[in-house]
Amino acid sequence: MTSLSASPACQWPSAAWKRQFRRKLVDWYRRHARDLEWRRSRDPYRVWVSEIMLQQTQVATVADYFPRFVAEFPDVASLAAADEARVLRLWEGLGYYRRARQLHQAAKLIVAEHGGRFPSEVETVRNLPGIGRYTAGAILSIAFDARQPILEANTIRLFSRLIAYRGDPRSKSGENLLWLLAEELLPASGSSQFNQALMELGSLVCTPRAPACEPCPVRSLCPTHRDGLQDSIPPPKPKPRIEAVRELLLVVRNQDRVLLRRRHATERWAGLWDFPRFPIDGADGSSTEAVLEKLAATTGVKARVAAPLTTIKHGVTRFRITLDCHWADCLHAPRRLPTGIRWLRPTQLADYPLSTTGRKVAIAVCGGS
Ligand code: ADE
Repeated sequence: MTSLSASPACQWPSAAWKRQFRRKLVDWYRRHARDLEWRRSRDPYRVWVSEIMLQQTQVATVADYFPRFVAEFPDVASLAAADEARVLRLWEGLGYYRRARQLHQAAKLIVAEHGGRFPSEVETVRNLPGIGRYTAGAILSIAFDARQPILEANTIRLFSRLIAYRGDPRSKSGENLLWLLAEELLPASGSSQFNQALMELGSLVCTPRAPACEPCPVRSLCPTHRDGLQDSIPPPKPKPRIEAVRELLLVVRNQDRVLLRRRHATERWAGLWDFPRFPIDGADGSSTEAVLEKLAATTGVKARVAAPLTTIKHGVTRFRITLDCHWADCLHAPRRLPTGIRWLRPTQLADYPLSTTGRKVAIAVCGGS
């Protein structure tokens, strides 16, 4: 292992180090790889769906969603032909819904421009909606065994420790350095196993806190372990400033129906359906009046607030949201509702994609989803 002069605080691996690393890593993976549904096939469609789900989502959560999604949409063509609402319904609870909308758009593009076959050229894959450098590398290496590097949360941490990189691995220069390392470490063949092994080691052994250095297969090659620096490499991320927000959600009743709206393309949770909800300022009653005015302006429905239904506390990014949910009674409804506004029987909500909090309210409203 040698020091890299361009980067003051890291140790760049030698050819001998890289050979040993590859051998030890792949040996370990053969014995310890988890049996995950998406690893049972190298079908690029299935690898693609799994990689999109795994962005920002834990393996255990994806293990629940992936089988249902591919059972209903077993290939690019079936996904391309689906209604967006159905795709979002199957994604419901995974969060980051833009991923599902882009997956759907990309499926349509693959059908329209590539005859329904998932492309195998890196530039074509990179041009699909929702696919960046990491995801393209993961799909092409895992599905086609292409010699493409990957860099994501697990490998950023693993690589930082393997070269004792003291800088911020998420800075531009840190990322450039680690992408270079990811390329240099790739074996001549077998990138599919190798890249999956890297992520597996990062997620099972080289964890953010208290990494399992004792059983680690590459412990003897790791300068961070040698120097006992696992707690400070990589440096902990600064904690985001948490902001408290209050919102009022209205379940507006009109005989046996309740009012729902489809969230706009420019909003959070775009494409999902929701009970009307609005930010409120404080404890004074005037904000309720303002909410009813906004309700009338956006839906054409005039209502009055009736009984409290429930209060839900939840977090979205750095916001801690307290959601006060109230029943409201419809006083006047227009003959024709604007596009994306509907009166629905509570039982119909089972077919509509809702946010996690929206689903909780739906369950409170009808006692089931
Ligand atoms: N995180 C992202 N992609 C992954 C994969 N293929 N296996 C395990 N963890 C992952």
